Amino acid sequence: MNALGNSGLHPIVRLAPAKLNLTLAVIGRRPDGFHDLHSVFVPLALADRLSLAPVGGTEDRLHVSGADTGPLGDNLVLRAIAAARWAVGLGPGRPATGPLAARLEKRIPAAAGLGGGSSDAAATLDGALAAWGAELDPEARYRTAVSLGSDVPFFLAGGPALVEGRGERVTPLGGVRPEGTAPGVPLVTPAVGIATADVFAVFAATRGSGDGSVRTTSSHFAEELGHGLSGTDIVARAGVLAAANDLLPATALVLPELVPLRRALARHLGRPIGLSGSGPTLWALYPSQADAADAAASVEAAVPAGTRPAPGDRPPFVVATAILSGTATSGGPQQ
Ligand code: C5P
Repeated sequence: MNALGNSGLHPIVRLAPAKLNLTLAVIGRRPDGFHDLHSVFVPLALADRLSLAPVGGTEDRLHVSGADTGPLGDNLVLRAIAAARWAVGLGPGRPATGPLAARLEKRIPAAAGLGGGSSDAAATLDGALAAWGAELDPEARYRTAVSLGSDVPFFLAGGPALVEGRGERVTPLGGVRPEGTAPGVPLVTPAVGIATADVFAVFAATRGSGDGSVRTTSSHFAEELGHGLSGTDIVARAGVLAAANDLLPATALVLPELVPLRRALARHLGRPIGLSGSGPTLWALYPSQADAADAAASVEAAVPAGTRPAPGDRPPFVVATAILSGTATSGGPQQ
């Protein structure tokens, strides 16, 4: 170990998984302008790959590669390094928190309802502390995570969880039982980024609070997933889960073309189609990743034929992934 707490030979590598909201109930608007949620989040195998290494000079650096990198100004990696440095600076011992060079390989589409930016922020927080050989107590870690965004604390938890409040209350759930295969998920992301703030603003202007039935579904499903469900059990609940997102009407007002796309996908795949978070990513559930890959290939083949309407100036991003029972935080590429 060198003075920076890193071996100096290898960068710190973290996988930053995407998330899917299997339920999303909006309870109501809070005095601080955010909305209280009741939502079951699961991590996906689809992940960005982050590496961090100490570097000379005075400034942190970031290099982003990948198909959909999003605007660099919106990237949370540099903000997460700065927030981690600030939090460490307050603690006892105060190890050196020198500049870091970050490389981020984006595989999760940006502004898509998949939590990619928030996951990158959580991975950066964890990785920066490792690179510096610094520690934060869990409370300080969570406070720093919340300061970076509502979805960030979920990604520190490392598995399926019930997420409440604006996102800061995270209760780990038993998740997917190991028997059988993990549920496969084809994702279809129209090439139109949606700002979460825009969807919540429309929600607040048009509805204000969610549909009680979504809250009931969310509570019931959280309790079931708390005890652990098999992949087959989760897929069997696809119909009720795909309907359990209070933000769907608001997202459809922000991006009206999503409604015919969702309908076309439901017809094409013969499955219920859900919306992740504030969208625009649409999902379906299959018994395995191999089944999800067949579904994704069939959707991709249909898009150039013009049979699938899709908003955006490019075809939608289509990928097959799977629900993870826990979060892998280091290692090689995954999808
Ligand atoms: O926290 P984050 O930056 O992800 O939130 C983006 C915006 O989405 C917030 O500024 C807020 O307008 C809205 N939001 C909300 N309630 C939440 C999460 C986000 O109203 N629970």
